[in-house]
Amino acid sequence: MAAVTQHLSTRHLLGIKDLTAEDIHLIFHTSDNFKEVINRPIRKVPSLRDVTIANLFFENSTRTRISFELAEKRLSADVVNFSASSSSVKKGETLLDTVNNILSMKVDMVVMRHPAPCAPKFLSEHIDANIINAGDGTHEHPTQALLDAFSMQEKVGRLTGKKVAIFGDILHSRVALSNIFCLQKLGAEVTVCGPPTLIPKHIERLGVHVSYNRDETLAWCDIANILRIQLERQDIKYFPSLREYAQYFGVDRRALDRTGKELVVMHPGPINRGVEISSDVADSEHSIILQQVENGVAVRMAILYLLAART
Ligand code: CP
Repeated sequence: MAAVTQHLSTRHLLGIKDLTAEDIHLIFHTSDNFKEVINRPIRKVPSLRDVTIANLFFENSTRTRISFELAEKRLSADVVNFSASSSSVKKGETLLDTVNNILSMKVDMVVMRHPAPCAPKFLSEHIDANIINAGDGTHEHPTQALLDAFSMQEKVGRLTGKKVAIFGDILHSRVALSNIFCLQKLGAEVTVCGPPTLIPKHIERLGVHVSYNRDETLAWCDIANILRIQLERQDIKYFPSLREYAQYFGVDRRALDRTGKELVVMHPGPINRGVEISSDVADSEHSIILQQVENGVAVRMAILYLLAART
């Protein structure tokens, strides 16, 4: 077990790429403590009393938005929520003007989801608050990768030498990129698997294996992280039909049973049931999908708490 440091090396969480392995171990160690807190009868601690956090969502979200809001409230922070679809962004206000107006109301931390890659980084260069990236276009989704790796570690122990396969739409996935960075920093081996059109060219330069064969990849891995087919980000047809995708790359009970192994199955959500994963796998004893969601609150509490200490 690596030594646990006391402070993060950064005052923003813009991507996993910027974190050290020590940062990740510190986040996990702190998440363990907060997981214990949220399972107590009284699930609230005063750690972020007098800290004001703005959740700025310029793109749709269910899990991440609710999870951050719960994490903030469990830490006793004051919370304001902003959704672009019901804001003056619709009247043409720029990102910087929107955020500066919100900051004038004395906000200390900003959690932001935005369709433009690196929008949180742009913000961090122009304003004083701590910034947390809650997903920026097809770039990174660092809190998802941290909660994924935390959930994997909880299930199978240390990730050093473990084999993790990421299935699906790697080309459009910020979850895939953040998972690759996070898993490699923790010493895991990673394979990405999907149709050639949904695997970025030259991705092996990141140090991952590439596979176009679902069954071989399931036979290889200890953990299968299955990603959503992101039809809303696909400007052309990347495969003939959803039915054909499900047949060759969807993870269903028969494909799992053929491995003869006790695989761990994950999915960040939202799920396209019957496309990338069948219901009898998503709801099976192999699946830790709902544990991922539960762990998301503890991991986000840890990130908020540690970043607030770095103001
Ligand atoms: N996993 C994830 O980011 O889900 P949401 O889009 O619902 O936040």
